[in-house]
Amino acid sequence: MKPAVKVTITGAAGHIGYALVFRIASGAMFGPDQPVILRLLEIPQSMSSLSGVGMELEDCAFPLLHDIVMTDNPEIGFRGTDYAILIGAKPRSKGMERKDLITENAKIFSHQGKAINDHASRDVKVLVVGNPANTNALIAASNAPDLNKRQFTAMTRLDHNRAIGQLAGKTNSLVADIKRVTVWGNHSMTQFPHIDNCEIAGKPVYDLVSQDWAIDHFIPRVQRRGAEIIEARGLSSAASAADAIVDHMHDWALGTPEGDWVSMAIPSDGSYGIEEGLVYSYPVTCKDGNYEIVQGLDLDEFSVSRLKASQKELLEERAIIQDLLPG
Ligand code: NAD
Ligand code: LMR
Repeated sequence: MKPAVKVTITGAAGHIGYALVFRIASGAMFGPDQPVILRLLEIPQSMSSLSGVGMELEDCAFPLLHDIVMTDNPEIGFRGTDYAILIGAKPRSKGMERKDLITENAKIFSHQGKAINDHASRDVKVLVVGNPANTNALIAASNAPDLNKRQFTAMTRLDHNRAIGQLAGKTNSLVADIKRVTVWGNHSMTQFPHIDNCEIAGKPVYDLVSQDWAIDHFIPRVQRRGAEIIEARGLSSAASAADAIVDHMHDWALGTPEGDWVSMAIPSDGSYGIEEGLVYSYPVTCKDGNYEIVQGLDLDEFSVSRLKASQKELLEERAIIQDLLPG
């Protein structure tokens, strides 16, 4: 049997955490032959609730779950960890934009970036989920000077999956037949869900949907989906967010399928004219635990303007938290 990998989950007693930990323990994230040790990090006020999550994990008797550590101490939570999933943060409520959370949540990610720098495995892979996710990932990466910034990513996989779900519904197609969807930019209203390169069951997407539908209905629906769910549930997405976390980490660790790509927010290397260092969502392929940006895609004037609009918002967010970026 393979040695167990250590997976830290912050905010593990929260809504997303509760939908996530059981799936990781069952093997959904790293496969049916990969044991895991869960290191669940919470704040002191949520430790009682976390202990209940721990009891339920025990009661599932998952064969792949080799140990559970529950703590409110980041040093213990991140010690030796191979994968860090940073969920613990405040969610928005009705009427708010995700960036309205910035001042309240940002400090969490500077502290956790430092703790990851000092205590995690040197190869740790970090996924930031707490909003505003891209800028929080920038903060965490900037506070971990001994690690490569490429080890820090933010989640736009939920937007990517939402885009596929909308296309499947509209075209009456199977999800598995939909390839090469991209979500560019920020996990926010300025994100750009882009389907010019998409194929459905081997056909160009615009054989099945019109460009007008994409611009007038598809793009705004995906951009607003988080708010639509908050409106309906009174709470932000949790199960679908947990599912996207499983997908993001699974593909990063184990690879993306041939002929397709996924969307991940990663530190920009300047590709497609985006300022280097901003955590920006790109189309990526993954192999052997690494990711690469898909290069050479043609972008028309409309698309370039959408990419720039999301970059502008990220630059504005960065200016707000500048004091949390050392150096
Ligand atoms: P929640 O309020 O149900 O749970 C958050 C948990 O985090 C709580 O248990 C809280 O005690 C814990 N926590 C707070 N600060 C912490 C800290 N410093 N260290 C460890 N734990 C801490 O919220 P939720 O619904 O699980 O959402 C969590 C975050 O994820 C929110 O910011 C939400 O907006 C974001 N989110 C992002 C995406 C995405 O696609 N990127 C999707 C859904 C939700
Ligand atoms: C989402 O996209 O569902 C999350 O980011 C939660 C939110 O605030 O919309």
